[in-house]
Amino acid sequence: MVVTSAPTRAWAKTFEQPVSEFPLTPLTVIEGNIPAGLQGTLYQNGPGRLERGGDRMGHWFDGDGAVLAVHFAEGSARATYRYVQTAGYQAESEAGRLIFGNYGTVPAGAFWQRFGKSPKNVANTSVMRLGDRLLTLWEAGEPYGLDLETLETLGTAPLDKLEGLPYSAHPKRDPQSGEIYNFGVTFGASATLQVYRSDRHGKLLRRTRIPLPGTPLIHDFVLAGRYLVFLIPPVRISTLPLLLNLKSASDAMSWLPQEGTQILVLDRETLELVGQSAADPWYQWHFGNGMQDADGNLNVTMVMYPDFGTNQYLKEVPTGQVQTIAKGTLWQVRIAPQSGKVVDMQQLVDRACEFPTVAATDVGVTQHSTYLTVHQPGQLETGELFEAIAHFHHPTGTLAIADCGSSRYPSEPLFVPFPDNPDNGWILTVVFDGVNDRSEVWIYERDHLAAAPCCRLALPNPVALGFHGTWSAA
Ligand SMILES: [Fe+2]
Repeated sequence: MVVTSAPTRAWAKTFEQPVSEFPLTPLTVIEGNIPAGLQGTLYQNGPGRLERGGDRMGHWFDGDGAVLAVHFAEGSARATYRYVQTAGYQAESEAGRLIFGNYGTVPAGAFWQRFGKSPKNVANTSVMRLGDRLLTLWEAGEPYGLDLETLETLGTAPLDKLEGLPYSAHPKRDPQSGEIYNFGVTFGASATLQVYRSDRHGKLLRRTRIPLPGTPLIHDFVLAGRYLVFLIPPVRISTLPLLLNLKSASDAMSWLPQEGTQILVLDRETLELVGQSAADPWYQWHFGNGMQDADGNLNVTMVMYPDFGTNQYLKEVPTGQVQTIAKGTLWQVRIAPQSGKVVDMQQLVDRACEFPTVAATDVGVTQHSTYLTVHQPGQLETGELFEAIAHFHHPTGTLAIADCGSSRYPSEPLFVPFPDNPDNGWILTVVFDGVNDRSEVWIYERDHLAAAPCCRLALPNPVALGFHGTWSAA
């Protein structure tokens, strides 16, 4: 769907110029009170700079990573916001211009100068706490390590035995053992899916390599009971123009629905491939969660799109004028682990949504509550960004919504359990207020989303619209 005359939206202000860092600063309460039991840190990553020296990057995914930390302790909050000092960020900062290519940007220079140039690790997609470091995650490269309190960049921080390997932005932690599962796709004559299983401290326990069909785009995967599930959408990258830097990765991708969605099921202990099949074509960036049902089938939730139009939509967002409308909705797919075949699938939420998250204790174990950013009815068609968050309660099939208001854009909602009742909790989201050009941290009680937030905190200056974050308990 294409919007013919798109107005410039309020969120465009966050993209007009790079957002500014701020040092550790006590936050002002705008409304309500900081819950006394909220003890820990909210971290969120996102692309803070999409321009340098007058040149603009080609896609929202290309912006240099900037991380927000909001430390909560004893009813007060302090925050800091810092760019990740990647090697590419520092080189471009020194040069005062863009040098490197990325997902939607070709490198600077004539075509013979661009050959073989590697993309910049923008460290902009998500974060993961590992020991005394906060790791920034970007799917085509190694993590960078940051100081947990100040967000000072401390250099690259690959996990044990994974030096030089890509480490995707959507690792999964087993809530009991703390084991960390993740993957990366490496490119050569053909693409290879690298799958990693590490212990809670990051020590590598097992690694496997699986040849892939062509060169696909894989952003996320899911932990479901004893299994890992990859649903590989029918997007394929033409590697020659990419290698020659004649095209960006985004422009070298094709939607090939005849390839179907390739399903891979791995045993989570051995990382051996146990089931493989093909299903109808669809696209997903993100999974909600996975579990194994009582009948043994794998129950997987995701935000599903009918095609890859979402990529063009995300390319248009930084312009503030969206022409392409892409509707993703929450689906449940059940898969037989030994064959990898789809048993059944159903739509759970019919309104457009994204950024599905679950409680850390639910990962791979149960489908109880999924938290999402959502559109209100009729909002998708106008080309707006999400202006609401929601809680989908699986046992009752109900959707509770927090409407943030016109031109107020919430980020990925994160669940934080109450200390005395971990089945219930708060929902935290960072909201860009496009009316007043400021960013705020909003805290809701999970079971009172229709009410006003129990607390709103003002950040010292606007921060970028974020992608993903995490909560780290004190
Ligand atoms: Fe993501």
